[in-house]
Amino acid sequence: MTKKDLILGIDIGGSGVKGALVDLRKGDFASERVRIPTPSPKTPESLLGAVSEIIKTFKWHGVVGCTFPGVIRAQVIETAANMGKDFIGVNLAEEIGKACSCEAWIINDADAAGCAEMRYGAGKGNKDMVLMLTVGTGIGSALFTSGKLVPNTEFGQLKMRDKAQSRTLPAEKICADSARKKGDMTWPAWASKFNKYLQYVHSLLWPNLIILGGGISAKEEKFMHLLDVDCDIVSARLQNRAGIVGAALEAKKNLL
Ligand code: BGC
Repeated sequence: MTKKDLILGIDIGGSGVKGALVDLRKGDFASERVRIPTPSPKTPESLLGAVSEIIKTFKWHGVVGCTFPGVIRAQVIETAANMGKDFIGVNLAEEIGKACSCEAWIINDADAAGCAEMRYGAGKGNKDMVLMLTVGTGIGSALFTSGKLVPNTEFGQLKMRDKAQSRTLPAEKICADSARKKGDMTWPAWASKFNKYLQYVHSLLWPNLIILGGGISAKEEKFMHLLDVDCDIVSARLQNRAGIVGAALEAKKNLL
């Protein structure tokens, strides 16, 4: 393996910051995954502390690929629905670079997961319209056409009416995995809400394939058979490793 094929990937989430060395020839982990809880309160400083702890754990001095759950343009955080407004306007790549003396690349978490699935997983070689949805603390989306990413689509923020709460909310507040847990929903109850979301997104985009990833993808036997949408739907082959692998992949593409 050349040096360029081994990269540290870090996935910043609403509840955990996770890191692993990624072997980009295989498209999978080359080390154990390290997880630390997302610090509270969530601030750029506290998060940089967590990222730097992960980098130190691996005694890593190379390039770092890192995800963030928000819109990223030119390495600057533009939205941070589940992280807080302190993050907006922060050039996270630059901050990680300064704090950890390394070169870093930042990408939206769902975009990263989608890139990994398109390269190594369930979307490999697929040139149709492919939609990756990550379902965890929030709902993330990544849209591909002819294998190319349309970044920052944020379809988890589409507004939907929630009957139970009689109000219109971002879809992720109604049917992310965190909403399922918070509302103590049975799998069929959650699936019925998620199906409405899937059908809504489908009616806007007409994807040929939907890939489901994020925390929920580890529990596919609980819900895949309950899903109902008019296109192929599969779970992410890399499951919740996709974010870390995709972050490493994009760091290589953009920095090496
Ligand atoms: C954010 C997205 C992110 C998703 C999954 C949403 O709250 O707006 O950028 O991809 O959560 O983490």
